[in-house]
Amino acid sequence: MNNLDDIISRIDPTRLPRHVAIIMDGNGRWANQLGRPRSDGHAEGVSAVHRAVEFSSDMGIEYLTLYAFSTENWNRPQEEVDTLMYLIGWAIERELPDLIRNNVKIRLVGDIPRIPEDARRRLLNAEKATSHCTGLTLLMCLSYSSRWEIAEAARRLATQAAEGVISTSDITEELISANLATAGVPDPDLLIRTGGEERISNFLLWQIAYSELYFTPVLWPDFQKENYAEAILDYQNRERRFGKTSAQVQQKDADLEPNI
Ligand code: FPP
Repeated sequence: MNNLDDIISRIDPTRLPRHVAIIMDGNGRWANQLGRPRSDGHAEGVSAVHRAVEFSSDMGIEYLTLYAFSTENWNRPQEEVDTLMYLIGWAIERELPDLIRNNVKIRLVGDIPRIPEDARRRLLNAEKATSHCTGLTLLMCLSYSSRWEIAEAARRLATQAAEGVISTSDITEELISANLATAGVPDPDLLIRTGGEERISNFLLWQIAYSELYFTPVLWPDFQKENYAEAILDYQNRERRFGKTSAQVQQKDADLEPNI
């Protein structure tokens, strides 16, 4: 049994996270360490994306959300922005037949009109071409920041209230969730950040209220299926209390035990 199979054999398939979100960090440092240009790190990062998508799909995870390009990333040197946009458009087009074959549905999340035309066309084409797929949903966050998303939702709800479509008392947590870019998607159970930093960087702030956080020093281009499987194992060893006491959670688990 190889190492990956060994880790997988310890994962409980009945308690998988439904939704995994990943902050893919460390491409630049990976390239630096090898004395190569940052763009090489991003190119290698695309291979890591391929592995993460394949692993999520094979394991039967329902939703995978990737932070591919943040609103703040627009402030990087223009050459790096151009490289990233080119790579993202190129990668999505190259992977499309494989995504369709594997029943993966692409959903774009973020300020998509801001993406340069060429990459945007390829991304929108992939979203349309996979709209019938019913396996893994891959949410790609592009030109995305959580505060942008929350401000958009607030503007939309304020407009509806001003027009009398809703009243202010209709604004509940559920209605806010339904007006975020991730509407209809369950909140992430597990958030992974690679690259050693332990912060959230304006990612899914509303949605991760009760997510388990997993930080690893592994740089994104080095992130293997084994690392992903370890993160899931770690997640399964935690007790999710959602504000309740440990005793309450354990009682509920006991109530759910099949009576055999
Ligand atoms: C963070 O590393 C990574 C990014 C800003 C871009 C991530 C994008 C990819 C891996 C390509 C995505 C492709 C698809 C198809 C989704 P960094 O540059 O911040 O690294 P550093 O912290 O070491 O400088």
